[in-house]
Amino acid sequence: MTDTSKLTELNANHVLHPMSMPAFDNEQPLFVERSEGVHVYDNTGKQYLDGLGGLWCVNVGHSHPKMVATIQEQAAKLAYYNTFGDVSNRPSVELAEKITGMLKPEGMSKVFFTSGGSDSVETALKLARHHWRLKGQSDKTQFISLKNAYHGVHFGGTSLNGMQNFKQNYGPLLPGCSQVDGPFPYRNPWTNDLEELGQICADILERKILHDGANNIAAFIAEPIQGAGGVIVPPANYWPLVREICDKYDILLIADEVVTGFGRSGSLFGVRGWGVAADIQCFAKGISSGYIPLGATVINDKVAEPFLEAAPNAFVAHGYTYSGHPLACAVGLTSLNIVEEENLVENAGIVGDYLLQQLQPLVERHEHIGEARGKGLMAALDLVTDKQSKTPVDPASGYSDKVSAICQENGVLIRSVGPKIILSPPLTFTKENVDTMVNTMDLAFSQVSL
Ligand SMILES: Cc1ncc(COP(=O)(O)O)c(C=O)c1O
Repeated sequence: MTDTSKLTELNANHVLHPMSMPAFDNEQPLFVERSEGVHVYDNTGKQYLDGLGGLWCVNVGHSHPKMVATIQEQAAKLAYYNTFGDVSNRPSVELAEKITGMLKPEGMSKVFFTSGGSDSVETALKLARHHWRLKGQSDKTQFISLKNAYHGVHFGGTSLNGMQNFKQNYGPLLPGCSQVDGPFPYRNPWTNDLEELGQICADILERKILHDGANNIAAFIAEPIQGAGGVIVPPANYWPLVREICDKYDILLIADEVVTGFGRSGSLFGVRGWGVAADIQCFAKGISSGYIPLGATVINDKVAEPFLEAAPNAFVAHGYTYSGHPLACAVGLTSLNIVEEENLVENAGIVGDYLLQQLQPLVERHEHIGEARGKGLMAALDLVTDKQSKTPVDPASGYSDKVSAICQENGVLIRSVGPKIILSPPLTFTKENVDTMVNTMDLAFSQVSL
């Protein structure tokens, strides 16, 4: 029995994969064994260019020597201790200072550490409700999110997700959660004019608030750029209009920056790209470049104020065993320092623009690529049966899976998600890496038919 067939059998017998069908477990998985820079290697030593950045997260690239050194040093010093109550540790304090320093323009002042993105969203929702309760407005419990949104897999996030497939088997969901139309330039029934679209969708949000009653709504939550929904980049006027509406009706604005935080969109933060400050921001993924699980929920003074005023009566009955995990926080601090030292935000913008340029000829050449879109180093191809109708290809056709399988055979990892191909490489990607990835995709699309 080869090493691969043995691992495949053990995997099928014992591992339940996330976001997978049990049937998948009978197939031979890609066993990723080693990584370096923008590449990963499987158990046979074959090299792959990582077009996924792990899963939108390996911002500083794989096996960065400074990250490895931090892990070794911190693990030898203090790998874990809790931070409940009045226990603390140096890495979590230093990382909180670093994050709030980076977020000075947005006025964010306090950090609640979590173990990942779903935790960060859950924390944001609970802090928002608690905030209003402390202010004597305990009816403000509802949340509004967007269609096509992805906010993770806990019950709060699941209830706010805008895609049915993430919700349909898990009801009853959290009451008081609803979705409104967000601006989707490629697929909307209204207009091709971006500014008009931004205004229409902002009006929809305002009408929803008026209908449900601002006195019942705790917060509006959205991703600055929708990631898992298909890298949907809103028009430039949308977030500023949303900020105005939230202020007008006294509703908290939560930016889910789990993907966009710390540089991926070509701005240090997604909201900064739109010239807006949120009240609460959710982070994970790029905060530690995925080396150790870590997330954070960050709040501004307005959100923090009632907690500080009510102290010691504002007991926050929320926290994770791994909140403020010293090893994770030390790694987070090194990761954010590398992002600054190596100008990775700027690189994401430059290489991201180049990536979009290079994807355009593929749209012209291949009949089932309806659109290439993105911002920074997050991009998507929208796959359609025909460009006129823009009908999404049926995921059951296996079309996008076949494209990604051919890329994998040829040493490039991209992500097929239903009728979309998603690209989110490390922020250290070069133009040469883009050429390799795009040429391989070009080849794959030429070999696959619908
Ligand atoms: C915007 C957004 N929020 C939340 C999450 C959930 O993060 P995690 O998988 O770390 O729980 C994700 C994951 O992709 C995400 O993209």
